[in-house]
Amino acid sequence: MVTKFRKIAVLTSGGDAPGMNACVRAITRSAIARGLEVIGVIGGYRGLLYNEMKVLGHNDVSNIVNLGGTFLYTDRCIEFKTEEGMQKAVKCCRDNGIDGIICIGGDGTFRGATDLSNRGIPTIGLTGSIDNDITASDYTIGFDTAMNTVCQMIDRLRDTCESHARCNVVEVMGRDCGEIALRTGIACGAAAVAIPEIPFDEAAAIAKIKELKAGGKRNFIVVVSEGLGKYSEELAKKIEAETGIETKFARLAHVVRGGNPTLRDRLTAAEMGSRAVDLLLEGKSNLVVVERNGELVTCDINYSHIVDRMYKNKLKDGDLAPFSEEDLASMKALCAYRKHEIERLYKLANDLA
Ligand code: F6P
Repeated sequence: MVTKFRKIAVLTSGGDAPGMNACVRAITRSAIARGLEVIGVIGGYRGLLYNEMKVLGHNDVSNIVNLGGTFLYTDRCIEFKTEEGMQKAVKCCRDNGIDGIICIGGDGTFRGATDLSNRGIPTIGLTGSIDNDITASDYTIGFDTAMNTVCQMIDRLRDTCESHARCNVVEVMGRDCGEIALRTGIACGAAAVAIPEIPFDEAAAIAKIKELKAGGKRNFIVVVSEGLGKYSEELAKKIEAETGIETKFARLAHVVRGGNPTLRDRLTAAEMGSRAVDLLLEGKSNLVVVERNGELVTCDINYSHIVDRMYKNKLKDGDLAPFSEEDLASMKALCAYRKHEIERLYKLANDLA
């Protein structure tokens, strides 16, 4: 065990996610149990630029395990991305005696963590995002709560659709990742699901709705991922025009990002938070804690970035150069697995519609 660690910091950055508070609590309590001091950085990386932070004692994280949002606040800080900003952040860490930082968020947060670790501040990233869009991880903290919220909202919409014999097109968050839409579409019995990863057969979906209507069905839910842009609103109009079914449109937007974290998110937050503290104490840096096949494992943050780009077909020249043959093979396998899972679930959604 590396003994130089006396003080660690924790921050939440990017879009908030239910379970972030449970994670900060787990980090704080685990660190205190290991004899460390803990600093909570306020407002993500911005807090490191303006020295906004507070000491977190045992009681400072009481009664937050069940709360949505992040009591440390969050930000998408443009200023931090400049060399000047990063140097300011490093100086702030040094001035405050911070030996390592745990950064909870999504891919943007991990980029910030790498920037700090490249400048000598050890960092560990934890996946906190409702989107489940970190390719290297099967799961991100907040995903389960967001999906449960979507399910509750859609169940309500279904009630009123059934009463009025209507269709409701529901747009859900997820940025360019269709996982929330896909899984909630299955769980809520959607008549159709449209996600960015798979071309949407609009004609087939409309034909299906007509067929279901002819068979006596009264309510129709169509779930569309926000990654398809304004398409969701257009689709609602087309369904109404072509099927004669009155069709409403609902954009759930940020409603899906708030609320009390589910058990799944609290447990994952607890386990990931505690693991991150151990990793810092073991002298590790620039790692992200990910879930694979139900187990928590780690991967290099650079690996996580590049496998994301590989999955999204956004690789740039030279991206793959630093990686071994073995790394490249595992990246390809991860992308293939993720793609296969999306295709499998998409087929299930259509089979069950
Ligand atoms: O990444 C989380 C997320 O909620 C996405 O699903 C969504 O596209 C984005 O953040 C919205 O960001 P903002 O809160 O800045 O509008």
